[in-house]
Amino acid sequence: MSKKIFIKTFGCQMNEYDSNRIYDTVKKIGYDKTENYEEANCYLLNTCHIRDKAKEKVYHEIGRVKKIFRTKQKPLVIIAGCVAQAENQEMLKREPYIDLLIGPQSYHKINDTILDYIKKKKKSEKTEFDPVSKFKYLSKIKNESKKISSFLTIQEGCDKFCHFCVVPYTRGPEYSRPFNQIINEAKYLANNGVKEIILLGQNVNAYNNENNKLSNLILEIEKIPEIERIRYTTSHPRDMTNDLIEVYKNSQKLMPLVHLPVQSGSDKILGLMNRKHSIKEYLKVVDQLKKINPNIEFSSDFIIGYPGENEQDFKSTFELIKRVNFINSYSFIFSPRPGTVAADLKLIKKSISMERLEIIQNQLSKNQMKMNKSLENKNINVLAENFTENKKNVFGRSEYMTAVVFNGKKEDMGKIVSVKVNQVNRNTLIGSSINNSNQKVA
Ligand code: SAM
Ligand code: SF4
Ligand code: F3S
Repeated sequence: MSKKIFIKTFGCQMNEYDSNRIYDTVKKIGYDKTENYEEANCYLLNTCHIRDKAKEKVYHEIGRVKKIFRTKQKPLVIIAGCVAQAENQEMLKREPYIDLLIGPQSYHKINDTILDYIKKKKKSEKTEFDPVSKFKYLSKIKNESKKISSFLTIQEGCDKFCHFCVVPYTRGPEYSRPFNQIINEAKYLANNGVKEIILLGQNVNAYNNENNKLSNLILEIEKIPEIERIRYTTSHPRDMTNDLIEVYKNSQKLMPLVHLPVQSGSDKILGLMNRKHSIKEYLKVVDQLKKINPNIEFSSDFIIGYPGENEQDFKSTFELIKRVNFINSYSFIFSPRPGTVAADLKLIKKSISMERLEIIQNQLSKNQMKMNKSLENKNINVLAENFTENKKNVFGRSEYMTAVVFNGKKEDMGKIVSVKVNQVNRNTLIGSSINNSNQKVA
C-alpha cells in the first residue's frame, strides 16, 4: 500500500515553495501527496513564527489532528518551518504527539530522518543552518510544479536584523543559490508548463552569487521562450540598486508591480526599527522606477503601533500611503517576538494601534479600489491559470497580480489573454475575453 503525506502550510511564499519541494523529496521514499488529511500516514505542519500566536497555532492544530486520528492509526507527525527552528527541543517535550522536528535549512535530510524514525522509533530534531546542502540536494530532485505560476527560491535568510523580526534567527544568514542551479530549475519548470516564475527570498534583491545579481537572473530567465512573466518578492529598499531599476527599462517579462516593504512612513520609527533606510531614500527609488516606467505600481508591508510610534509618526505613514498610492499591501499591528531587540519594548495601547490599523487599511482599500475602477471598460492582459471552482469561468491574474475572472476556455490556460474589464470589486476584476466575446461570464 502506498503511503500518503499531507502538508499544511502557514506563513510566507518561501514556506509554500519548501512544502512543494518536500512533496517532491518524500516521493523518493514512497510518500504520495494527498489533499485529504484523513487518509495521511504522515502529517507535516510547515510553520511560521513571524507574529505571536504562531506557536500556539501549532499546538492547536496538533490537538485537531489528534482528534481526527483518535480512532485511526496515528500518522507520523512532523513539525517543519520557522517555529520548529525557533522552538526545537521545547516542542518535543511539550507535545509527545510530535515525532520529528525539522528546520527550514535541513529539508535535504528529511528522507533519512523519516526512514531513521521508522526504523528506530526515536524522536529527533534537525535544525542546523545548511542552505548549501539543502539546495544542492533539492536541485537534484526535480521541481515537479505543474502550475502555470510557480515559485522559485533563489535566496534565503537575512543579515539585516530589523529589531522586530525573527527571520535572521529562523532562516539564518543570507545565502544566495548558485546562478546556474537557479537557471536550470527555471528551465525545468518552463518545460513542465510553467509560464510565470516568482523568484523568492526573504531579501530577494540582496541576491548575489559570484557577482551575479538579481538583475542578471531576471535577464537570463527572460531568455527562456516559454516564460511569459517574471516577478520577485520580498525586496528590501536598500537593495534596490540601479542595475535592478534599469531592468525595468527594457524587460518585456518583468511585471510592473513592485513589492517594496517600507514598514513605516516615519524616519524616527525606521531608525528605531533598524531598517537602514530613510523615507527620502525610499521615495528616491519609487520616483526612479516611476520615471523609467510610469505604469509601475507599488505594494508594501506596514507595521502599525511599533513602540514609540506617536500620532505624528502615524500621520507620516498615512501620508506616505497617499503619496505612493500603494496597492495590495499588507499591514499588521506590531507583535513582540522573543529573542529580538524589540521584544521587551514598551507597547503602545492596543486600542490606539487598532484604531490606526483600521485607518491605514481603509486608505489601502481605497487605493486598491481606485486602481481597479480605473481599469473598467479597458482591455488588460491576463495570464489564465485555471478554472474557477464552479468550472464555468477562468481564473487568471493581471500584470498587477489582481485576480481576474473571465469567460475563458480550456485552450486559454497558460496563455496571456486580452480581457475587457466589465465589473470590479476590491479584490477581483470580472471581464470577458476579447476572443470569446459572444460568451457571457456565468
Ligand atoms: N524582508 C522583508 C522586508 O525587509 O521588509 C520582509 C520579510 S517579513 C518575512 C514579512 C513582513 O512581516 C514584514 O515586512 C513585516 O511587515 C512583517 N513583520 C515581521 N515581523 C513582524 C512583527 N514582529 N510584528 C508585525 N509584523 C511583522
Ligand atoms: Fe526581517 Fe526583512 Fe528586516 Fe530581514 S530585512 S530582518 S527579513 S524585515
Ligand atoms: Fe514566517 Fe518564516 Fe516566512 S517566520 S514569514 S515562514 S520566513
